[in-house]
Amino acid sequence: MPPFSLQLSHEQIDSFAREGYLRLKAITTADEVERVCGVYDRLFAERRGREVGDQFDLAGADEEDRPAALPQILHPSRYASELADSQIRTAGEAIARALLGPEATFIEDHAILKPAGHGAPTPWHQDEAYWDPGFEYRSLSIWVPLQEATIENGCMQFVPGSHRGEVLPHHAIGHDPRVHGLEVDAADVSGKVACPIPAGGATVHHCRTLHYAGANLTEAPRRAYIMTFGLPPRALGTPRHFPWREQRRTAREARSRRSRPAGPRVDP
Ligand code: NI
Repeated sequence: MPPFSLQLSHEQIDSFAREGYLRLKAITTADEVERVCGVYDRLFAERRGREVGDQFDLAGADEEDRPAALPQILHPSRYASELADSQIRTAGEAIARALLGPEATFIEDHAILKPAGHGAPTPWHQDEAYWDPGFEYRSLSIWVPLQEATIENGCMQFVPGSHRGEVLPHHAIGHDPRVHGLEVDAADVSGKVACPIPAGGATVHHCRTLHYAGANLTEAPRRAYIMTFGLPPRALGTPRHFPWREQRRTAREARSRRSRPAGPRVDP
């Protein structure tokens, strides 16, 4: 018997609809966590994806000669097929289908590493603020820590019910257009709930749920692997306007542009 069940209860499904997030104690085995951890550390150590803009500093200006405040890799499963073939992916798909319906599919994954002792906080934001405002989204992200996630090392925190509102105005972290990461301009986070979970557990959040993760104040790295699943986006008759997206001028985008032919992309 595996030490976990991929079957969500009615209570969990209702709770996600009401609160916009869920906390799950285990979606994979300790063995797989250890394997994925090795893959994860290798991708960061080898700076995989850096030259095409898939590895960068989420919270800093992403300068070549300075250590990243918050190293991130987009699409890590493109660089390590073990991630695509993992139990974590299978479990994620089952969770997404239970919450969004049987049409939900994998959209993308990313990895956010908070280095020991200095990993920066991930400020309050809604994931949808990163995306093309011309579409309506029905999606969620599943955040899987590869060690225990605690308040001290930067576990996820959510504002219950915030997914039922609109996308709020955001700006680049520190109001620096060279920074990829976004922060909400203003939001009432007084009802926030911190979600410590064991290694190989997961939190699930709707693409509009306000969320945050603190700095890593511990002596060990905090590794999180994140998968996004969703239904196909629908074009909006009247597109919204997300000026914070247009104002961004990141080194990551420049590397991505240099390496790829022109065309639409959806960034996480
Ligand atoms: Ni996020």
